[in-house]
Amino acid sequence: MKRIGLTVAVVLTGVLLVGAGCGAVDTVDKVAFERPLTIPPMAESHVDDQGRRVFDLRAQPGTSDFGPAAGGTTATWGFNGAYLGPTLRATRGERVLVNVVNGLRETTSVHWHGMHLPAAMDGGPHQEIHPGATWSPSWTIDQPAATLWYHPHPHGVTKDHVNRGLAGMFILDDDNPAETTLPHTYGVDDIPVIIQDRGFHKGRLRAGDTGDTLLVDGTIGPYLDVTTSKVRLRLLNASTKRVYAFGFDDDRAFALVGSDGGLLAAPYATDRIRLSPGERAEVVVAVRAGERPVLRSYPPDLGNSFFGGRDRFDVLQLRAAATLKPAADVPATLADLPRRDPDIAVRSRSFTLSGTEINGRRMDLNRIDVTVIRDTAEVWNLSNEDGKAHSFHVHDTQFQVLSVDERPPGPELGGWKDTVLLRTNQRLRILLRFSDYTDRNLPYMFHCHLLMHEDDGMMGQFVVVAPGERAGTPPPLDVGHAGHG
Ligand code: C2O
Ligand code: CU
Ligand code: CU
Repeated sequence: MKRIGLTVAVVLTGVLLVGAGCGAVDTVDKVAFERPLTIPPMAESHVDDQGRRVFDLRAQPGTSDFGPAAGGTTATWGFNGAYLGPTLRATRGERVLVNVVNGLRETTSVHWHGMHLPAAMDGGPHQEIHPGATWSPSWTIDQPAATLWYHPHPHGVTKDHVNRGLAGMFILDDDNPAETTLPHTYGVDDIPVIIQDRGFHKGRLRAGDTGDTLLVDGTIGPYLDVTTSKVRLRLLNASTKRVYAFGFDDDRAFALVGSDGGLLAAPYATDRIRLSPGERAEVVVAVRAGERPVLRSYPPDLGNSFFGGRDRFDVLQLRAAATLKPAADVPATLADLPRRDPDIAVRSRSFTLSGTEINGRRMDLNRIDVTVIRDTAEVWNLSNEDGKAHSFHVHDTQFQVLSVDERPPGPELGGWKDTVLLRTNQRLRILLRFSDYTDRNLPYMFHCHLLMHEDDGMMGQFVVVAPGERAGTPPPLDVGHAGHG
């Protein structure tokens, strides 16, 4: 495992990147917060004659200037721009259509992380988009309001495509009145916060799994002007392998209101929220006029041997205006979130994570690992049996966590989840339900969301079939164009 082990402190205008002798990265009190947070624009859309909300995304190469701390301009990729992509937004019940153009010189795909949709629309490794081609998936939004995201998922090169800058948010709305009592004005009091750790070398974005510099919505050292007494942050860990434990510099409490798949049943007052790669959290934080609290990442407590377990970062400075528009109280109940009874499960399965294997196997695009029956629930027993943390993600569905090491989960795991951290030697039981869509040939993925593990094959495939149906065979990839080298 690679570690950031700089022995010199490198001072670049405004940002200090420190690797102490012990190997821990610590940027606390060393970030100047001189650049306004670059909030991703909302994606434009229109409704076509079939009533579908249509978006256009183009994956394309570009050049980004991350400011003096990065030391120059660097080649990046983005959707409709040079880095990251616009925020897509749609409402429950709407049918969406996304025209995804591949303006790159290699094959990619675009996956809608957290979305319940047919396997053919999922954007996994089987839905390749070749250079110059357009892929136009369409589906009906049928799940609660949530903070989802999209990113490439090409076989074996997901890490590279995400690290170059291909990622964006996909926000879902619904008619839950709590959604509009909570801060909900995009870019004003409802802010996407996409966190990635990156390394720079002589001004160039380094390849690699980790970095000592944070990009927040693609901004190094960002501040956000706050004009309301409460602000909702939609936190997304879009990093390759780093786990964060977010909190504020003065340890103020905030309300955790949402997890991966939507609002919690009730807000949870806490001062820390830990996110592994792929996970999201919606938090509402109160500010007082004129103050400047800093969102930090504290050591994430992963067990003694995991990468980055002692690292600290200053993430984002909130600059509260001299007068603030008062915000409503966070509602005491947020969503109707019935706990499912594990007895509804028709079967249970075990998944052992070790090295870069799940149940001793690596990804095989031609092999269906799991066949589940439509409109049934299953219990999956996840067990991390090696000395590293992993982040387990399942496509198509939002699940509930039944237990963590045989104990009930904390409130932060009490809502809908599609990705969960498994610390060293941890065991989790999750309850999943697979509804609506079947496709006996085209699989969905489950995998470790540490992107280098995913690329190394720490992934399996499942199909959802109708009762009485058997799994088929995934169609072969178009090898003439598949991926690169
Ligand atoms: Cu966020 Cu299979 O991915
Ligand atoms: Cu996913
Ligand atoms: Cu892993």
